[in-house]
Amino acid sequence: MNTIKIVGLTGSLRKASYNKGALEAAQTLVPQGAELEILDLSAIPFFNQDLEGGELPAAVTEFKEKIAQADALLIATPEYNYSIPPVLKNALDWASRDKSAPLAGKPTALFSVSSSQLGGARVQYHLRQFGVALNLKLLNRPEVFIGMAGEKFDENGNLLDEETKKRLTVLLNALVNLVKEGK
Ligand SMILES: Cc1cc2nc3c(=O)[nH]c(=O)nc-3n(C[C@H](O)[C@H](O)[C@H](O)COP(=O)(O)O)c2cc1C
Repeated sequence: MNTIKIVGLTGSLRKASYNKGALEAAQTLVPQGAELEILDLSAIPFFNQDLEGGELPAAVTEFKEKIAQADALLIATPEYNYSIPPVLKNALDWASRDKSAPLAGKPTALFSVSSSQLGGARVQYHLRQFGVALNLKLLNRPEVFIGMAGEKFDENGNLLDEETKKRLTVLLNALVNLVKEGK
């Protein structure tokens, strides 16, 4: 079997983002036979339907190609005011408009990291609802909410907490199994 390509997305552009740090940790935890590439969403402009008439911005085209080529998505998101950060929603809105429907049926796992105790529980349910519109093949279990991030990451966003690494490993294994089930 070819290497399973997982693409990692995060709704945080912060340099020392906990969510980005968790994705970087996940890169070292992916099961054998899989790889995780983290995408940078910072260059993707606001969605504007007027732009769809002509050549799309390069960052949008590149993003959609990466999504299309991926076997699976791993979304790591902060919770902004109980909901989805605009950077993440915007990128996925762009991809949702492609006629080839690169998101449809895509095996996807998600987790959230938050500085508060709930660990982003509310954004996950908004994201799951959004996932229905996108027709993602979302993994239901395990649910991974990483709260009190300030105690689990250093000031540069590096994940230190061993228990969190274990939970991410279980999530990654479940995602890879979901991909394999569909092959
Ligand atoms: C605009 C904004 C809204 C936020 N709203 C929430 C929230 O609703 N729930 C929550 O748990 N944390 C909230 N936070 C705090 C985030 O959990 C915290 O900033 C976290 O570090 C963001 O993730 P990051 O480190 O990956 O950027 C909010 C932060 C920002 C900037």
